[in-house]
Amino acid sequence: MKIIKAKTAGFCFGVDRAVNMTYQLLGQGVPVATLGPLIHNPQCVDDLAARGAITVDRAEDVPPGCQVVIRSHGVPETVYDALRARGIIYHDATCPFVAKIHRLARRAGQEGRVLLVAGDRAHPEVQGIVGHACGEVHIFADLSELEKICQEIDGKSGVFAVAQTTFEVKKWRECTNFLKKVYTNPQIFDTICNATWARQQEAERLSRMCDCMVVIGGRHSSNTQKLAAVAGKHTRTILVETAAELEPAWFWGVQTVGVTAGASTPSSIIEEVLSSMSEEIREEEMSFEEMIDASMKPVYSGKAVKGVVTAITPSEVQVDIGTKQTGFVKLEELTNDPSAKVEDLVKKGDELDLIVTKVNDQEGIVYLSKKRFDENKGKEEVAAAVESGEIMEGDVTESNSGGVVVLVNNVRVFVPRSQATLRHSEDYTKLVKQHVRLRIKQCEGRHIVGSIREVLAEEADAKREAFWQNVEIGKHYTGTVKSLTNYGAFVDIGGVDGLVHISELSWDRIKHPSEVVKVGDVIDVYVKDLDTENKKVSLGFKKVEDDPWVKFKAEYPIGSVFTAPVVSITKFGAFVRILPGVDGLVHISEISRDRVEKVSDVLSVGQEVQVKLIDVDYDKKRISLSMKALLNEAPVQEDAAEEAAE
Ligand code: F3S
Repeated sequence: MKIIKAKTAGFCFGVDRAVNMTYQLLGQGVPVATLGPLIHNPQCVDDLAARGAITVDRAEDVPPGCQVVIRSHGVPETVYDALRARGIIYHDATCPFVAKIHRLARRAGQEGRVLLVAGDRAHPEVQGIVGHACGEVHIFADLSELEKICQEIDGKSGVFAVAQTTFEVKKWRECTNFLKKVYTNPQIFDTICNATWARQQEAERLSRMCDCMVVIGGRHSSNTQKLAAVAGKHTRTILVETAAELEPAWFWGVQTVGVTAGASTPSSIIEEVLSSMSEEIREEEMSFEEMIDASMKPVYSGKAVKGVVTAITPSEVQVDIGTKQTGFVKLEELTNDPSAKVEDLVKKGDELDLIVTKVNDQEGIVYLSKKRFDENKGKEEVAAAVESGEIMEGDVTESNSGGVVVLVNNVRVFVPRSQATLRHSEDYTKLVKQHVRLRIKQCEGRHIVGSIREVLAEEADAKREAFWQNVEIGKHYTGTVKSLTNYGAFVDIGGVDGLVHISELSWDRIKHPSEVVKVGDVIDVYVKDLDTENKKVSLGFKKVEDDPWVKFKAEYPIGSVFTAPVVSITKFGAFVRILPGVDGLVHISEISRDRVEKVSDVLSVGQEVQVKLIDVDYDKKRISLSMKALLNEAPVQEDAAEEAAE
């Protein structure tokens, strides 16, 4: 048995859009209610319910906190009013083709014409259309009903005729031919959706060549029923909702079977049915006429066009590209920024440069991308920068084990980690979210490579040159500590690293520079010495005014008496800490009037002793103290040093 699947089988654009919108909201954890089942497919509706979507009949029944999705059929104006009155957030998935009929319905009333709607009066789409009319409206299901209406109405002021999007094409032709005969200037709008028309056409063609037709879809779906009706005129036709309903006996003796599906049938169900029936499956091939047609199309994938924004929703914009098709640009095709909102990017009436990404002629839809246009334009600029060597700018969007990606004029430029930072030791992942300058080194197809390091190195060279032109001994700089060694700290003072020797870091004796500074510290330094030939700079850090010897000289004249701790003991005496960095010696002979054999017999480290300053050699930085000298004197007060200093 040969199975031929119709190309047009399955979700139409409008249903696909509504279903995606709902799954997206559920995926974001939004509590969703749909006004009526979202689509005429029980399996899909059950799946949405399993994910938390609820179905209500009226805006008044929406539970508090729920956001509403208006299905592709659309709703009357009063429903929008009710939602707004209750402050309910709603997402309008009304199919743009249906929304267009709503506008026509309003226009009929505004122009004082009678509105004639071809369709099923019980169908929500027809009720929605009627709910947007503001004048006289009549609904008809076929020619005989239309004839009756036309006998009763006064059509002098003119008539507007529209059709439910899924109305049968043949019936519509009969009705419109009649209207043209009865009225001198009827306004007839062919609002039957191309998707429906194309499905019906294909179903009819397939049914003529097959022994049997299988139509997959919800039994309550109007377009599925019509597909079955159209196919049933030419061959035995079976309508199934799922693969489970298939019976092998139906296909005994069948050579060729055609399969189509309604516009609200998910592809997963179609695939299930096909694999249950499977033996040989082939898609219907394009006819020669269709191929000629396709080649003549003015709109094709990859074409650059201009589009004027006609409508905005949170997930897409609708654009007029000056052809019969309706254009759509999804949010993700507008911008690379995942947090951006459509309304912040474009507004109605804006003209956008776009690239066509997909054309669906059957449904009259064109998908477009602004991002792709910007990328193409950006790519030209990036390619030109390879030649010119121009420095480009961009934002680092991500990092990986190989390097970082920089978005330059909407083009992804890869920067290897070796080219991302000036020093190899630097963490290149910290560049993410930073704005950087870079040179484009290569642009071949998708292989676009840049170097941030090259620009940084040039900038550092320029800084270095400026430094050596202006530097002089004694000049102060604010620098950043770049690295530490046992003998000092290297400090970047603007493209040049100078060394602060360990002895220059502190007036105290320290064992390692890390006792005073750490990498990344911003410190004030001054130039102590320069070696212009070898391009070396010695820096000073500790300040003269902090020199404890300066303080000592000012505050401790000869004869001062003060109390201070013993910090070390030697054979020849004890060292006493006068100030941090300034120690004085009490010689063994200056400890007592009695003979002292061993210093440690009378003094210990940490002991506070009262001493008198008896001599200082500032050149050799030697201070002589005496305890013995105080034994000949009257008791001395603690603040003697201050008094002596005065
Ligand atoms: Fe819209 Fe046509 Fe489908 S009107 S909902 S695309 S059948």
